[in-house]
Amino acid sequence: MLRNKSRTFQRGIRPSRKDLFNVHSSPQLAAGYSGKVRDKSILLGVTGGVAAYKIVDLIRRLKDEGASVTVIMTEASKNFITPLSLEVASHNKVYSGLFDTPMAHITLTAEADIMVIAPATANIISKFARGIADDLLSTCLLSFNKKVVIAPAMNWRMYENPILQENLRHLISRGVIQVGPEKGSLACGEEGMGRMSEISEIIEVIRSALSKKDLVKEKILVTAGPTREYLDPVRFISNRSSGKMGYAIARAAIRRGAEVTLISGPSLLSQPEGVKFVSVETTVDMLNAVNRELPSTTVLIMSAAVSDFTPAKRAREKIEKSGDLLLRLSRTPDIISEVRKKKDRPFIIGFAAETGNKVRRAKEKLKEKNMDMIIFNDVTEAGSGFDVDTNRVVIIEREKEIRLPLMSKDYVAEAILDRLSELRRIDG
Ligand SMILES: Cc1cc2nc3c(=O)[nH]c(=O)nc-3n(C[C@H](O)[C@H](O)[C@H](O)COP(=O)(O)O)c2cc1C
Repeated sequence: MLRNKSRTFQRGIRPSRKDLFNVHSSPQLAAGYSGKVRDKSILLGVTGGVAAYKIVDLIRRLKDEGASVTVIMTEASKNFITPLSLEVASHNKVYSGLFDTPMAHITLTAEADIMVIAPATANIISKFARGIADDLLSTCLLSFNKKVVIAPAMNWRMYENPILQENLRHLISRGVIQVGPEKGSLACGEEGMGRMSEISEIIEVIRSALSKKDLVKEKILVTAGPTREYLDPVRFISNRSSGKMGYAIARAAIRRGAEVTLISGPSLLSQPEGVKFVSVETTVDMLNAVNRELPSTTVLIMSAAVSDFTPAKRAREKIEKSGDLLLRLSRTPDIISEVRKKKDRPFIIGFAAETGNKVRRAKEKLKEKNMDMIIFNDVTEAGSGFDVDTNRVVIIEREKEIRLPLMSKDYVAEAILDRLSELRRIDG
């Protein structure tokens, strides 16, 4: 679940939607972004649970990402939300009765890329598991032969009922993807397992289900966030990195089937689902963690904003304020240089966060440090770099250079992994 949901854009410049999702403006990447929901057709089943009111937000966000959403409502769900609300949100006709539109149970599923049931009642889960087709939604589920995602939501006793659990196990064994539920306060006033997953998590699972699995053989180590270099027990030197780029890469790599370890400096972001998470503070901590993980790593992606300097001395006690303080800084170890020395070094992707257009400097770094790819970005550019949801990067490889437009960090992550996948395929 993403805790930090706010979209912050520096200096009040908000990139247009076209910018955020426009991967195709780079001809090299015209094949597209693999985890995208853009241009996908989602058939969304809404069933009779209290969480149905949250579905307007799910539809809105899927549409923001460029998906087309068609809703099927069960009769019971209309007690919780009106068809009109979902029609307005989806900009599409809402379907419900099996006999209202002849053959809708076949035509709707033939056009869809994925089916999502949210919220999924105990009733629809059990009907689906047993192959019952007595309304439009349950009939569509039987006539659909691609991926189905279900987001159960119900009272905890219903959820823990062994019959329901057996039905869920059966669906999962048939390839149905379950997201949630979570533990928390329920609509009935009780606490327990049964809350529908957060919308952002449901979207992440949909993206993953639609994603190609081209990195299944890779063990990817991602570093993210800032490091902290302490002058005394309470004060430190750090930088503005939020970790958003590295976390986006970790999430994208998981979607594409890689085994992912994320070594993160202090960050407010939530741990991405499915990663092995290692929390560190200082550059030396990060180096030690990288060294520990390295033997099982095939690709190292160094997106952390590692501090280049550290106080030469760390005071044991808090430094008293008495006059000016002169600080002597010494260099921290260079993690990539350390890794490069290893015999079986992994494929290395570095980041060059520069102030100003120093692409040439990034190219020199690629060669000097013997990396396989370096991602350049100018952190002073509006909408790019630290603590924003967007980035404008140049992917620099040994043989080529790809300039990408301003895009969401999720899309930048996919673009980087597209190149990684291509190069790893060529290398065999
Ligand atoms: C106020 C109220 C809230 C309900 N909430 C849920 C719920 O959150 N999850 C669930 O599985 N069933 C819930 N039910 C029961 C379903 O609405 C019922 O099983 C219905 O037959 C489901 O039909 P459907 O699966 O076709 O939508 C609720 C019922 C009522 C009256």
